[in-house]
Amino acid sequence: MNTLICDSYEDMSRVAADMVGEQLAGKPGSVLGFATGSTPLGLYGELARRYRDGKIDFSKARSFNLDEYYPMKKDHPQSYSHFMEENLFSKINLASTDLPDGEAADPEAECAAYDRKIEAAGGIDLQVLGIGLNGHIGFNEPSKSYSMPTYLTKLTKSTIAANSRFFAEGEAQPTTALTMGFAAIFAARSIMLLINGSNKSAIAKKLFEGKIHTDVPACLLLLHPDVTVILDRDALG
Ligand code: GLP
Repeated sequence: MNTLICDSYEDMSRVAADMVGEQLAGKPGSVLGFATGSTPLGLYGELARRYRDGKIDFSKARSFNLDEYYPMKKDHPQSYSHFMEENLFSKINLASTDLPDGEAADPEAECAAYDRKIEAAGGIDLQVLGIGLNGHIGFNEPSKSYSMPTYLTKLTKSTIAANSRFFAEGEAQPTTALTMGFAAIFAARSIMLLINGSNKSAIAKKLFEGKIHTDVPACLLLLHPDVTVILDRDALG
């Protein structure tokens, strides 16, 4: 695991954007894996800026997102589909974008189809990840066992509480989601894990112990041969 420590969130976002830029320069038809949450917003802003300034081109690249709430209408303001459209897809020129379909009538069939689509695209070249306060990756919550394929998962109380800040008071908040499992994440040729803010320092510390804490999903990344953790000083604690 490579670790890059940045002075600020803005720095972290620029370093992450540099990595995406290098990936696309080396392979314009790259398959990018994207995450949601507040962490990658700086990266997405930076990518949009670089595209606008003619410094990066996504026209041959495609993307897959880690997860989507289920059930969830695509045009719901809190859907990950809407989040990605607002914060990135509408601002750059990706050849195609995919997320698990929160409107699918048959979630299991949708999960299997999503894995097939990623495989057919040749797998993910560069996967962007954030980390939940409890160490979750995508929506792979701490558990005794972890799913390899994409699957319908139940969110933990702490994740529902952490994500409640995005929902209006009294608004129904989903308690289940479709998430990529560890097969597609691990098949990614390289992974960047972004961690920022002092609220993530406890979970970052666990990761840096270099032990596979099985109740911290992010620790499984220690087994992947090409992971770069990019974090700001606040996350170091
Ligand atoms: C959600 C997403 C994760 C993300 C996490 C952290 O639960 N499913 O992919 O990493 O939130 O979010 P934030 O970056 O806002 O802390």
